Amino acid sequence: MKYFIRILIVAFFVVGVCYLVCEMGSGKNQVSIIPAPVEYSAGSGTFSVCGEKCKLDNGQLRDYITMNTPLDWSFSEDGSVRFICDSAIVAEGYRISVTKDSIIVGYSDYSGAFYAVQTILQMMDVSGRVPVCEIYDFPKYEWRGAMLDLSRHFFGYDFVLKQIDAMAALKLNKLHLHLTDAAGWRIEIEKYPRLTSFAAWRTGSTWKEWWFGDRKYLEEGTPGAYGGYLTKEQAREIVRYAAQRGIEVIPEIEMPAHSEETLTAYPEYSCTGEMYVHPDFCIGKEGTFKFLEGILTEVMEVFPSEYIHIGGDEAGKQAWKSCPDCLERVRKEKLENSDALQPYMIKRIADFLQSNGRKVVGWDEILVGGAPEQAAIMIWRGLENVDEAISQGNDIILTPGAYCYFDTYQDAPDRLPEAMGGYLPLSKVYSYEIPDSEKIMGVQGNLWAEYVSTPEHAEMMIYPRLFAIAELGWGTDNKGNYEQFRCRAMVHGERMSEKGYNVFDLSEEYGQRKEFLAPIEHLAIGKKVIYNAPYYPGYTAGGDSALVDGIRGGWTYQDERWQGFIRRDRLDVLIDMGEVTDLSEIYADFMQICGPEVYHPAQVIISVSDDNESFTELLNDSYEVVRDSGITFKRVSWSGSCKARYIRYQARAGQFGGFVFTDEIVVK
Ligand code: ACM
Ligand code: ZN
Repeated sequence: MKYFIRILIVAFFVVGVCYLVCEMGSGKNQVSIIPAPVEYSAGSGTFSVCGEKCKLDNGQLRDYITMNTPLDWSFSEDGSVRFICDSAIVAEGYRISVTKDSIIVGYSDYSGAFYAVQTILQMMDVSGRVPVCEIYDFPKYEWRGAMLDLSRHFFGYDFVLKQIDAMAALKLNKLHLHLTDAAGWRIEIEKYPRLTSFAAWRTGSTWKEWWFGDRKYLEEGTPGAYGGYLTKEQAREIVRYAAQRGIEVIPEIEMPAHSEETLTAYPEYSCTGEMYVHPDFCIGKEGTFKFLEGILTEVMEVFPSEYIHIGGDEAGKQAWKSCPDCLERVRKEKLENSDALQPYMIKRIADFLQSNGRKVVGWDEILVGGAPEQAAIMIWRGLENVDEAISQGNDIILTPGAYCYFDTYQDAPDRLPEAMGGYLPLSKVYSYEIPDSEKIMGVQGNLWAEYVSTPEHAEMMIYPRLFAIAELGWGTDNKGNYEQFRCRAMVHGERMSEKGYNVFDLSEEYGQRKEFLAPIEHLAIGKKVIYNAPYYPGYTAGGDSALVDGIRGGWTYQDERWQGFIRRDRLDVLIDMGEVTDLSEIYADFMQICGPEVYHPAQVIISVSDDNESFTELLNDSYEVVRDSGITFKRVSWSGSCKARYIRYQARAGQFGGFVFTDEIVVK
């Protein structure tokens, strides 16, 4: 119904984002609102907020405005800024009518009134002038979220409050806190104190140092221990602070996997009872359920959210195969095999939460074996999981890694601090086409923090990409509007920078790898390639013609333009030029990103032949492969003068093994 009303409204009004003038650097009055309102029609002149009167019924909203808006809005019964409750306005929606003499806001719930204030604040200039206009606005999706990974790096209480303010300005309404993972437990649980006195502290201050080091936990107070956690009091304050800004906080407690820290603090809930061994809970032991229910009971006391996130991703399920307790559970519950313990556990926990008036949300792995009926599925992998969730009848929150994971590079990797990998510029986040289904609750941007160790870095990874999530979640038409959106994103980025956020500066954006942008012409295009060693099935770049199609790769091997080799000596291909050809240059580029074990080659041999039997080496060079951070590229080329029909290009792995990736063998 809401969707139908939206279509009607859009059809009847000639308004919209085209009025959202954005003239960077011109010094002209700018109206730049993110997310763009459904309807905006501009008038002429301005209303001045300063010193005027404002009637506001809702005490909470009045407190918010008093505390958080930069100007001195005064409040009285008969002022020229009025908030009028209008039950015809949809949930979270609002109307704003600005004339030279008044601002009148219509709303039907707290969030709507709050969002009207956010829009007014984004329109208002430093002197408190608001342009004359009419706005009607409401979101398309009920879930407009951001996720902060507080486990891999604990950015602290103040950081969370600061991000809530930023989310509020963007009209985002769900804050998902990833509170537990191998790297540290981050929420006080009184019944199980070792979760915070031990599992919240570790040896390395950066995740990389710890993960590639000893991966030990430490007693709280140990000199040099890195970590921390939210006390219940802090968590309650986060919930209150967020609610005042129209945001619900959804805690995530991981199970059955990603639980190394928990199972080292409480090894009795693992299959063998050993510390430092298990990522997965033992599902055979009844005590595991008592333990998790005890934790969730305290979590529910602190977080009143409709949904509790219970993880569910990436379970290895190894120990279950030989654990007597797990096998007994399989037998007793007549499960197909030990893998089926995962859906068994998720269903049992979902029932527990439901009996306490809550619903579960879990990562899309909870679809395997059948998700609980009431569960919302957070899609982070492929689109096929959207289809699967729809076919199972579950609600869906979209967080696909390819568009919504902010641990990726947003610009040329050599201009940014080391990231997890991947390339996700603002334009790509914005380009995400949300599937059309009533089951879609909304969309969320996730900051995983393995490679993000400071609050400043975290903010740079989140903003401006979260602006695009806000706009997708609001339902703004994102087709063909990117340049206009980018312009508004720059304005909003400046506003945030002035408030002390570390926002990635779009004006400095370099963009995609230049080789990616246009095909290259060369002599081997379309020639036959014979693979002496196969490419890896997951990284085909389109198959046998990929290395001679003129199409170059970008900043990530996930862009389906880089071909990957892991078998035998790695890259070993023969190009048949069809006839003896004059050659002056042969080269290939290689990518290195050490985290996922992609390395430059240690040896490259380029050789040529007329008969495919007797080969002459043009180049045979060895290189030291050095582990570094970030993404780097190495070009290995021969230049000179010769004639040949066959070209063999070999690139061998070095001491670290791993993948060799190249995008094209260029022949001139
Ligand atoms: C995930 O990225 N493992 C949900
Ligand atoms: Zn077990």
